[in-house]
Amino acid sequence: MQTEVRGVVARAKGEPVSLETIVIPEPSLGEVVVQVQACGVCHTDLHYREGGINDEFPFLLGHEAAGIVDAVGPDVTSVAQGDFVVLNWRAVCGECRACRRGRPWFCFATHNATQKMTLLDGTALTPALGIGAFAEKTLVAAGQCTPVDRRARPEAVGLLGCGVMAGLGAAMFTGEVGPGDSVAVFGCGGVGCAAIAGAGLAGATKVIAVDLDDGKLDLARSFGATHVVHAGTEDPVDAIRALTNGHGADVCIEAVGHPAVMEQAFYARDLAGTLVQVGVPTPDMRIDLPMIDFFGRGGQLKPSWYGDCLPSRDFPMLVDLYLQGRLDLDRFVSETIGLGDVEEAFHRMERGEVLRSVVRMPQ
Ligand SMILES: NC(=O)c1ccc[n+]([C@@H]2O[C@H](COP(=O)([O-])OP(=O)(O)OC[C@H]3O[C@@H](n4cnc5c(N)ncnc54)[C@H](O)[C@@H]3O)[C@@H](O)[C@H]2O)c1
Ligand SMILES: [Zn+2]
Ligand SMILES: [Zn+2]
Repeated sequence: MQTEVRGVVARAKGEPVSLETIVIPEPSLGEVVVQVQACGVCHTDLHYREGGINDEFPFLLGHEAAGIVDAVGPDVTSVAQGDFVVLNWRAVCGECRACRRGRPWFCFATHNATQKMTLLDGTALTPALGIGAFAEKTLVAAGQCTPVDRRARPEAVGLLGCGVMAGLGAAMFTGEVGPGDSVAVFGCGGVGCAAIAGAGLAGATKVIAVDLDDGKLDLARSFGATHVVHAGTEDPVDAIRALTNGHGADVCIEAVGHPAVMEQAFYARDLAGTLVQVGVPTPDMRIDLPMIDFFGRGGQLKPSWYGDCLPSRDFPMLVDLYLQGRLDLDRFVSETIGLGDVEEAFHRMERGEVLRSVVRMPQ
């Protein structure tokens, strides 16, 4: 039986979001309905409502979520009603050329629900990142649900569904940070702070945080940065070299999405060092580097999508670290808000006042 719930919808480019009644179909083959408990507000939701992703309005926003499985399709065996799950946007297909070569974290054909959620008049909704979790319930593919330890707090572990996982994975998986490495992280928002935490978990002994905002640098320290650099008052490349015996960092992580910052991260690396690009550029941005510097410095330049994570492998592991007190996911939750407060939360995010506002559903 289909159900009607409330959800946050972006109807047209640039217009404030609205709370609407939406219709969730009964789950069919390979599908699951999840009762959402918490969902973080991410920049990507704002990009959707500004028309920056595509034109497939209306969008059902929200994608960093945790909840309880409400109903499963007839063939679903990977999760069952009552499971506590974190939602993900990398439900690997197992069949594409990346999956067949044993690299499922690059899967090129990830799964989403096949049926559409709709408005009351039947208009099909496009769920953000195939999730759409600013809603009391949502319809996803079974592979988008990763069961985790139910003792975890939904507001905190739901954030693994996107930005926090992207930052952790940029350090742990894409950057392959290891014991004794020096790491520099440019940009200390939710993604950058997660990269700082990930570098610490992976054994980095020097973690240098770079930002333009003193408050963000304080947060960076609380996530484990050993040194901070204010990019407005000192040159980050010089400062990072000075902190690493003149050499530069083993791994530099760009978590802003800006060509000038990418260039700083490129030159702040030690020889044979790794540059990880996790900040998302806009289509007009370009990089222009002397080819001799690319060649002459060696090492690796690596873009990182979703931290090269494999949700089924990584979410349970990270939730265990959280429950053991070794990964402070609660610190990313700047505030909890209601479903009707998302528009206001976008403005706080734009003003740089929060790491994450998290919608908490009334239970
Ligand atoms: N690759 C992925 O899979 C993925 C996933 C989620 C988010 N992202 C991207 O990661 C980036 C960061 O996301 P966020 O949520 O942390 O954003 P945010 O806006 O919260 O943080 C960005 C930080 O960068 C700082 N900053 C801005 N200009 C700077 C400069 N010139 N030098 C140093 N610091 C500077 C800001 O003060 C802020 O603290 C965004 O581009 C976002 O789209 C990527
Ligand atoms: Zn695949
Ligand atoms: Zn996101």
